[in-house]
Amino acid sequence: MTALPKAELHLHIEGSLEPELMFALARRNRVSIPFKSVEDVRNAYQFTKLQDFLDIYYAGADVLRTAEDFRDLAVAYFNRAAADGVTHAEIFFDPQTHTLRGVPFDVVMQGLLAGVEEARRRHGMSVLLILCFLRHLDEESAFSTFRSSEKWFDQICGVGLDSSEVGHPPSKFAKVFAAAAAAGLKRVAHAGEEGPPAYVYEALDILQVDRLDHGNRSLEDPFLISRLAREAMTLTVCPLSNLKLRVVEDLRDHPIDVMLQKGLRATLNSDDPAYFGGYVADNYRALAAAGKISHAEGITLARNSFLGSFLTDEALTRQLENLDAFVLRHAAQQ
Ligand code: ADE
Ligand code: ZN
Repeated sequence: MTALPKAELHLHIEGSLEPELMFALARRNRVSIPFKSVEDVRNAYQFTKLQDFLDIYYAGADVLRTAEDFRDLAVAYFNRAAADGVTHAEIFFDPQTHTLRGVPFDVVMQGLLAGVEEARRRHGMSVLLILCFLRHLDEESAFSTFRSSEKWFDQICGVGLDSSEVGHPPSKFAKVFAAAAAAGLKRVAHAGEEGPPAYVYEALDILQVDRLDHGNRSLEDPFLISRLAREAMTLTVCPLSNLKLRVVEDLRDHPIDVMLQKGLRATLNSDDPAYFGGYVADNYRALAAAGKISHAEGITLARNSFLGSFLTDEALTRQLENLDAFVLRHAAQQ
């Protein structure tokens, strides 16, 4: 499952900040962090719900100050993802986490784009950027971020919605998502991670999303399941994240098998790998070890990752041909 060519469609770049890099950047920028050692940081990663994680995740991001920091963060992720068979990545970034600390939007973009260039050069990986709005903030703040991003529109593929879900329904961001649609940007949103199926309906009907992030709680509503299947809506599912944030209590209870049986276009992703104990291939392997997916389903999930991506038709064809060739080669060897 490691070498299987795959796309990663749900990855918060700030969530790929490993404790070692956090310490290195804290030293480089002379920022103090509330941890004494790398073990101290890892020990703090015990969560019972999404908000426990978000508090630590925003605190950790404080070491990111310069374009070089964002580049180093992105390069570290791309290197790690390439080792996991990732040939295409669509990554989230949270500008408000940085601009509210005084780091200019342009610094974030310059750093990330330098990292993206390195991923292309070093690994031949294609990368798209998705700008996420923090839903615990108001829509005016999202609009101001959207306006800062305008000059970068040719480098941004779409907008997303993340952070604390419950109490912040997708409808809160109806206007800014409509503006993004008018600007020709793709739209995605976290919905149904902790929030109810009603939030998934709002993401579909009000934000008109092209893809759904998580979506686990859609399974509580049979009509919603049928609709998602009929519309071939891609779900970016994150099993190790679900386990760490107690969306599921055990991977043996993870609904990935049900999602596939119901005909949903599910994909596997790492979400915030530095915090949740694994990169994308670890997510495939963990589900296989828990008896949740077969080898053939692993290949289906990888195929879904390309089908659910925002690649052009031509690039999609190339990625699928590469996946098919890999599968044939490996079948021949067995
Ligand atoms: N930001 C980073 N990871 C997230 C998640 N899993 N849910 C909501 N917001 C996030
Ligand atoms: Zn996420």
